[in-house]
Amino acid sequence: MLNQQYELLDFGHNEKLECIGGVVVRRETPSAPGGKANGVDWERPQLRGRVVGEKYTWDGISPSDWCFDAGEFELQLKATPSGQVGVFPEQSVNWQWIKDCPADLEGLKAINLFGYTGATTLSLAKRGVQVVHVDAAKSAVSWARANAQSSGLADSPIRWMVEDALTFVRRELKRGNKYDIIVADPPSFGRGPKGERWKLQRDLCHLIESLSELSRGRCKMLLLSCHTPGIDHRQLRTEVENQFQFQSGSGASFALELRTKANKSLPSGNCFRWVAGKS
Ligand SMILES: C[S@@+](CC[C@H](N)C(=O)[O-])C[C@H]1O[C@@H](n2cnc3c(N)ncnc32)[C@H](O)[C@@H]1O
Repeated sequence: MLNQQYELLDFGHNEKLECIGGVVVRRETPSAPGGKANGVDWERPQLRGRVVGEKYTWDGISPSDWCFDAGEFELQLKATPSGQVGVFPEQSVNWQWIKDCPADLEGLKAINLFGYTGATTLSLAKRGVQVVHVDAAKSAVSWARANAQSSGLADSPIRWMVEDALTFVRRELKRGNKYDIIVADPPSFGRGPKGERWKLQRDLCHLIESLSELSRGRCKMLLLSCHTPGIDHRQLRTEVENQFQFQSGSGASFALELRTKANKSLPSGNCFRWVAGKS
């Protein structure tokens, strides 16, 4: 299903050319190195995003019914001033992992930090997990709620929180709340709703430490990813394993990527995931 919904057509010179939910999108992104492939038509995108002065601007209008069908759930898409459109397709390996997880996840309690438009929240909800979805942007949380609605998951036990991730986790610790499943996909830099600054290089170790306390003695699943240059997946794994006292289970760390049909690989972040029992 995903392959029909997403194709990386080409990338290079800090631009990506993609077909997302049937719409050809050409967009500037700082993380598309190297040169463009010969023979790819870059000149007829339906949407084109680029930085003009200090602003990210789009030529073309997002179709009103533009959406990404992930099979288990759907995400409504639109071109936004951040250069994003509402989906990070490189995360699809993790939605599939949640879908295929042989453990019974029904009724477990998850926290999804930096949850954006809700893809991982909806993957978990589909497995019967109770999810606390946290994002600093009210617009992202409203968008995620709308995605839950259009995915037939409006009545799932999801709490939607517009909060600073680290502040929320610390407050949950004070309240004595605990979680079985930990998910976080922090950006390199961000801001909480009250202007709280998130800086991954500075704050990630504090977040991991607090999350290990939040799930002490009951962690069943963990999924941590980031797209920050200079942090690789082995380092993520080491930082997590130093804090979490994982008992029996299986963990894997790997680089996230997107590939063109011609097998050009676009590095798209790093990930560590772990599940209790046999995966
Ligand atoms: C990389 S996106 C997450 C992508 C998401 N996991 C997915 O796969 O769709 C980063 C998100 O972090 C949020 N964010 C940034 N700073 C934050 C903060 N201090 N606390 C909570 N969320 C924050 C942004 O609003 C944005 O939605």
